Amino acid sequence: MSILRINGGRALNGEVRIQGAKNSVLPIMAASILAEGVSIIHNCPRLADVDVSARILEHLGCKVSRDGESVCIDSSGMIRSDIPDALMREMRSSVVFLGAILARTGEARLSLPGGCELGPRPIDLHIAALRELGAEIDDNGGKIVCKAKRLKGCRLHLAKPSVGATENAMLAACRSSGTTVITNPAKEPEIWDLQAYLIKLGVSISGAGSSIITVESMPTKNHVEHTVISDRIVAATYLSAVASAGGSIRLTDVNPEHLSTAIDVLNEMGCEIEADREKGIITARKEKRLKAVKPVITSPYPGFPTDTQPPVMAACLKAQGTTVFVENIFENRYRHVEELKRLGAEIKTEGKTAIICGVDRLHGAELQSTDLRGGAALCVAALGAEGISEISGLHHIDRGYDKIENALQALGADIRRTSGA
Ligand code: UD1
Repeated sequence: MSILRINGGRALNGEVRIQGAKNSVLPIMAASILAEGVSIIHNCPRLADVDVSARILEHLGCKVSRDGESVCIDSSGMIRSDIPDALMREMRSSVVFLGAILARTGEARLSLPGGCELGPRPIDLHIAALRELGAEIDDNGGKIVCKAKRLKGCRLHLAKPSVGATENAMLAACRSSGTTVITNPAKEPEIWDLQAYLIKLGVSISGAGSSIITVESMPTKNHVEHTVISDRIVAATYLSAVASAGGSIRLTDVNPEHLSTAIDVLNEMGCEIEADREKGIITARKEKRLKAVKPVITSPYPGFPTDTQPPVMAACLKAQGTTVFVENIFENRYRHVEELKRLGAEIKTEGKTAIICGVDRLHGAELQSTDLRGGAALCVAALGAEGISEISGLHHIDRGYDKIENALQALGADIRRTSGA
């Protein structure tokens, strides 16, 4: 069992390049089967979830290879339209393959993703969107069997701006006849990136990032190269790390606009963050004790992201005063709180609300990652805690951070991955 051993309480100083966005790469890998040819995806991080996507593509009959930060997918030989239960269970977001497989082959068979560590993960909106486009779907008994002789463009209203449902609707609409208009879609930057990839495939699609996405025509190209956007959640995690530990850091290859809500909160706490959009650089400095901020409330983009709540909470633990968090997206997203308390944090949770009373100091402890962003939050807090912390459950963190210890070492942290006791 590997652990991360962090000797905290030391200021960070250094520079790190921000990896490509996990939440962009995964849907784009699913979309690559619409190319019926070769997609080369640059800036592809080395993550456990990317490996699972590659295994799904290989199971479907695609060829996948990696050369450094680029992944090449040849989907011309795709022969299957099912995803085995074991692969579905490894990654809940594999459900975004549903729309892509259906669009490519006219049928898709996969198992229901079920609940996950963040609470229930329903896919009713995905199913409703595909039905609107003309798919016949049987989702009884833990399996989804989806068939469509012909998909037909339509006006499609999403009851909630779900990221995954928007992606599934966009992918299925790419092979539908006529025009599809998706209203109330998710507006996350990763939706915009998926649209950018589809445009390169020759699809006539517009509106990502706004309240209406229109898809009018089918893919026409079968060789496409695309560079994914940088990971705004990873960038916000490293900004939270310097807020927790103090020091002065510089992030490169990052789009500050994508994390403006996290920057605003950290600035309000007393960090000095400066962003250069043109150069893709963010610098952050923390010298004096932080102060509590007004309530941090998660909501769909452009609101404060649920994925950024755990690391920013970890940065607040020593801030002077009381900070309230309200988690509106997932039911079970405070599992990191019990672990943060082991470091000496004072936190109370009730339903959607967490109240943090800033303490003077934190001390090292043995910690267990509970989920991906919760695990990152433990690293952030441990960097600001005096003494040694040992974090286990690294498989969660490895789902979304490309060697987190290397990035934090580049920022001057005393962190090591060891094989544990
Ligand atoms: C994506 C991100 C995840 C992020 C989340 C919210 C990927 C791979 N994952 O997940 O990191 O935390 O967006 O920003 O991009 N819902 C329904 N019915 C549905 C679908 C969703 O009720 O059919 C609900 C969910 O339970 C949740 C909310 O809608 O409360 C948002 O979920 P959604 O945007 O779909 O998240 P994901 O796409 O799963």
